[in-house]
Amino acid sequence: MPDEQRAPAIVILDFGSQYSELIARRVRETEVYSLVMSYSTTPEELRQIAPSGIILSGGPSSVYSERAPQCDPGLWELGIPVLGVCYGMQLMVQQLGGRVEPATGRAEYGKAPLHVDDPTDLLTNVEDGSTMWMSHGDAVESLPDGFTRLAHTENTPEAAVAHHGRRLYGVQFHPEVVHSQGGMALIRNFVYHICECQPDWTTDAFIEEALAQVRRQVGDKRVLLALSGGVDSSTLAFLLHRAIGDRLTCMFIDQGFMRKGEPEFLMELFDQRFHIHVEYINARERFISRLAGITDPEQKRKIIGTEFIRVFEQESKRLGPFDYLAQGTLYPDVIESAGTNVDPRTGERVAVKIKSHHNVGGLPKDLQFKLVEPLRRLFKDEVRKVGRSLGLPEEIVRRHPFPGPGLAIRILGEVTDEKLDTLRDADLIVREEIARAGLYHEIWQAFAVLLPVRSVGVMGDQRTYAWPIVLRCVSSEDGMTADWSRLPDDLLERLATRIVNEVAGVNRVVLDITSKPPGTIEWE
Ligand code: XMP
Repeated sequence: MPDEQRAPAIVILDFGSQYSELIARRVRETEVYSLVMSYSTTPEELRQIAPSGIILSGGPSSVYSERAPQCDPGLWELGIPVLGVCYGMQLMVQQLGGRVEPATGRAEYGKAPLHVDDPTDLLTNVEDGSTMWMSHGDAVESLPDGFTRLAHTENTPEAAVAHHGRRLYGVQFHPEVVHSQGGMALIRNFVYHICECQPDWTTDAFIEEALAQVRRQVGDKRVLLALSGGVDSSTLAFLLHRAIGDRLTCMFIDQGFMRKGEPEFLMELFDQRFHIHVEYINARERFISRLAGITDPEQKRKIIGTEFIRVFEQESKRLGPFDYLAQGTLYPDVIESAGTNVDPRTGERVAVKIKSHHNVGGLPKDLQFKLVEPLRRLFKDEVRKVGRSLGLPEEIVRRHPFPGPGLAIRILGEVTDEKLDTLRDADLIVREEIARAGLYHEIWQAFAVLLPVRSVGVMGDQRTYAWPIVLRCVSSEDGMTADWSRLPDDLLERLATRIVNEVAGVNRVVLDITSKPPGTIEWE
């Protein structure tokens, strides 16, 4: 089990749906602890975990395809309530003796009004006519013995079904997605009334458990934490400081690519305001000199990553020895989901993809710490709640993501001190104006990019020949996809005027109107 402390009240078995994580989050929104596990989890393993309920996710496969991921039929004999969603429902029906067929001509994608036939039990408080989100090419043609219909839609006769006696439920729609009206009511009915779960997954309960667990794990040993100023490492610092006090050493490596005022802000906040001591490491010279003459983006990232490890290694030896390294790993990083190892087109199992893009790679062999990762059970929104509850100020809790290599990847071509100063000034104006317009929290990220080309302009009577700044402002849910933000004209105008007037070396401002995909959020 991925968690030695608390067993999940609800286990989500993942059949490769893009929504498996979302189901887990929705269940947690009801203050019931849930985990995503592989569809291949055995009945024996489930018996040991003893969840109060099991949800089978959707999935891209067809239950009658040869390679369709199956669950062990022993699942139905555990006596634990099961809710099958979409593919999960079809699997339940098929394994228990019903029939699933391609819904030729009646496949349903998108919103459909749900007609409730049995308004009790799973569908209590789900209004007749509620819009539900459908996405299926197969449909249930006949039900197994003992099952009854709870609801239908125009195209789907069996849209929600149940075997009341065995507490087995299936829905053809996706209650977890935001477009499904009454979806949360359905999930609450399942977890509270059918599975009889208690709402005990609260921020305070998490903090108490995490404090005890960290103290137990670390004992009287010392822990090192590399603070970045983002919400994860900051929350981690607050949590660990509360758990073990001065046996935590926070280290902030300033590589010289932070936003204007950021190093000072962080030191002031942690050290002076919250009395969490932070070792400030000024490594600016080292990083910039390594980047001299480097223009290739991949090479830049690599050099920054390698240098980070070198500084980290050197400084941890100087300040150490440490037994533990604290890491802000979150739950999405540890989910072993079928989504990452089932090919969505064929339903075939494929090798697990490794996320390497954004991480600084591994630490060298001779610098192996034991890890302390108290946030590994949390989703990002839960980290924010924990941070807030530990007293972390809002300006950290709700800050935009900022890449590890910092402004170095927002300067195209060679990074120099001069360009860094220019970009920092432009970036500050972007931050100020977005905040002044009250748009900070509606935007995922807003920043400036410096292009190393010159164009002609005129200021006063002078001809100028200087760099352009690109404005990059996007809205996004998770950074995986993004849309460019439609900013008000007067804000854009203020940004352009201020940047050209106040930032030396810049004579033009352009706006990036590319979504992701095909663009990325960052320019490098
Ligand atoms: P892209 O540019 O890939 O960015 O669309 C997606 C999200 O990831 C952030 N990002 C990074 N974060 N180290 C990080 O810690 C990196 O090297 C890095 N590159 C991109 C980016 O800011 C956006 O939020």
